[in-house]
Amino acid sequence: MEFILAPSILAADFRNLEQEMKKTEENGAKYLHFDVMDGMFVPSISFGMPVLASIHDVTDQVMDAHLMVQEPIRYIEAFRQAGADMITVHLEACRDIGATLRKIRECGLKVGLSVCPETEAEAVKPYLKDVDMILVMCVHPGFGGQKFIPESLDKIRSIRKMIREEELQVDIQVDGGIYLSNVREVLDAGANVIVAGSAVFNGDPGENTRDFMEILRRYE
Ligand code: DX5
Ligand code: ZN
Repeated sequence: MEFILAPSILAADFRNLEQEMKKTEENGAKYLHFDVMDGMFVPSISFGMPVLASIHDVTDQVMDAHLMVQEPIRYIEAFRQAGADMITVHLEACRDIGATLRKIRECGLKVGLSVCPETEAEAVKPYLKDVDMILVMCVHPGFGGQKFIPESLDKIRSIRKMIREEELQVDIQVDGGIYLSNVREVLDAGANVIVAGSAVFNGDPGENTRDFMEILRRYE
């Protein structure tokens, strides 16, 4: 299993997005986490296809699009065209989650399924064979800089157990309130893809990325 850092550009300095992205890439962050918020599924509005289209080829990082969007099936093709390499949708935001996951697969992208803190781990079980990654939200989606919800650890452990029991190769991504101080806890629980916004982009993104990668490399 590969251990991956996915800095969330929601927390980046938007005046210097190219430099910020390059600093994380040069120091080992394989993914770029692109937080799309529609003001309906979550209270905030962030950015969408035009921004992704302009930055997706600034680095060779995997464009990891996290759609916090109501009925995201409407936008899968548009995000593929804008340069997404993988798309993660929320179970809670889809009328037909099966059709939405299939649409991402049909577009030739990696498939992610996300659950909010209030959604039980069991809810992802029926979809494990249809996805490449499960995203466990460790904060209520909509904002960066929030506090990690400790109950997330049990959810990560139960999902990792389900994946192991079904002998599947599914990544577990964790997102929200992850810092150098608590990243080992989520890794020990079974996560292997780490989203970090504030912890990477507040301060020196290069140095923060190096610090995270030092910890992740010990789990290889
Ligand atoms: C929240 C987003 C997260 C957030 C992470 O809805 O999905 O990706 O930007 O930010 P931090 O790491 O600052 O909690
Ligand atoms: Zn996110």
